[in-house]
Amino acid sequence: MSFRWHPDEPPPSIEGHSRAKLRVLRSYLRAYFDRLAAHLPRDDFKLDLVDGFAGGGTFLDGKAIVSGTPLIMLEESESARQRLNQDRTKPLRFDFKYYFVDIEEAHTDHLKAALNERGYGADDERIVIRNEAFQAVAGTIIAEIRRRQPRAGRSLFLLDQCGFTHVELALVARILRELPKAEVILTLAAGTLVNFLAETPAIVQAVSPLDLSESDVHDLVQAKEGAGGRALVQRVLREKIRLATGAAYDTPFFIRPERSRRALWFLHLSRHPIARDVMIQCHWNNFSTFEHYGSGDFNMLGWDSLRSTESLRLFHFDELEAEDLRVRLLKTVPEELSALTSEGPITIDAIRHAFANRTAARFSDLDSVILQLWREREIEIWGASNRPRSHKLRHLRPHDRIAIPQQLRLFLTGAGQ
Ligand SMILES: C[S@@+](CC[C@H](N)C(=O)[O-])C[C@H]1O[C@@H](n2cnc3c(N)ncnc32)[C@H](O)[C@@H]1O
Repeated sequence: MSFRWHPDEPPPSIEGHSRAKLRVLRSYLRAYFDRLAAHLPRDDFKLDLVDGFAGGGTFLDGKAIVSGTPLIMLEESESARQRLNQDRTKPLRFDFKYYFVDIEEAHTDHLKAALNERGYGADDERIVIRNEAFQAVAGTIIAEIRRRQPRAGRSLFLLDQCGFTHVELALVARILRELPKAEVILTLAAGTLVNFLAETPAIVQAVSPLDLSESDVHDLVQAKEGAGGRALVQRVLREKIRLATGAAYDTPFFIRPERSRRALWFLHLSRHPIARDVMIQCHWNNFSTFEHYGSGDFNMLGWDSLRSTESLRLFHFDELEAEDLRVRLLKTVPEELSALTSEGPITIDAIRHAFANRTAARFSDLDSVILQLWREREIEIWGASNRPRSHKLRHLRPHDRIAIPQQLRLFLTGAGQ
């Protein structure tokens, strides 16, 4: 759905899934700021926040005015500054810059008025507002971020497009390539896209920003009409998006649609496993908002043994799921580890990398399952000394290595039967 803002009119009324999206963004920013601040080398906290499809800044929720994405970025930055400085003797210096872009002049005018009402003056150098297409200004924004932060380019891009055709995946790839510590949150009307898919020249043209060729569209249409159904299409799309953007990690969860049955994807793309873990933690914190298909262990968006989305198990991020997920992981992780360690022990870091895109588990869930398997002697944990550890172990370190005892490996691979 597309919202309209005008500086002389009240803001548009918010809808269910936008409300959910704003809640998750707020909670993600909170976790993101806290996690970044915990690893800062100095007392300088430098970050660039880009809202590429910013809208007019506010919504009506009943009679109340509520903040949209650009205001949420500002509010959460300020509350992080207060929270993170609470117990510090030497204050953490926040050096944040914000870029708010919208193609509609009436929308940026509404946003300017909303900022002004909240005390952000037009001369505030931290805030840049651009009334242009995001694609047209993205290069300048990337260059400016690199000028401010030549090495890391630490930044968060929110690309909250309406529909699925406004953000070229090649542009997302460029952001992640040129700014190594960038993260991108992309919304995508996946449900509408799947409905819309057909092998006509107009549709092939319309989906070209998603890097889908004519033969990709052909394959997707075949998949949609075949046994895998919509779930298979979504799974293929997810792979395509990750490959086309060069993101090593993604979390592809659906915002639960309240009225329409069309799923909205809230995709988080990054090149860092920690960033993915912060996002997945958010899904767990906002359990009533998100869902995905599959069992949660190693079968995310799974369809293999099931025929269609209707018969697929819906995964809800709640405590019952957490317990069920743990039980499933205890069964499936040994086999996964057996395959991963076939050439020798591998590090916890490498295991996280291998599992991240396939499971709804947080790293803390995986760690606790690995520790339990170790206590039950199903796996060995090797420390720096190159020998299996035997003393009490509470936490795993990224460089600890996991090995499967030889006898158990024979059993897991079936050779011992
Ligand atoms: C879903 S709304 C954004 C809502 C906002 N993120 C929020 O939740 O507060 C999408 C916005 O993108 C703008 N837009 C559409 N195409 C654009 C483009 N190519 N570049 C920048 N903005 C665009 C629209 O004018 C609209 O204001």
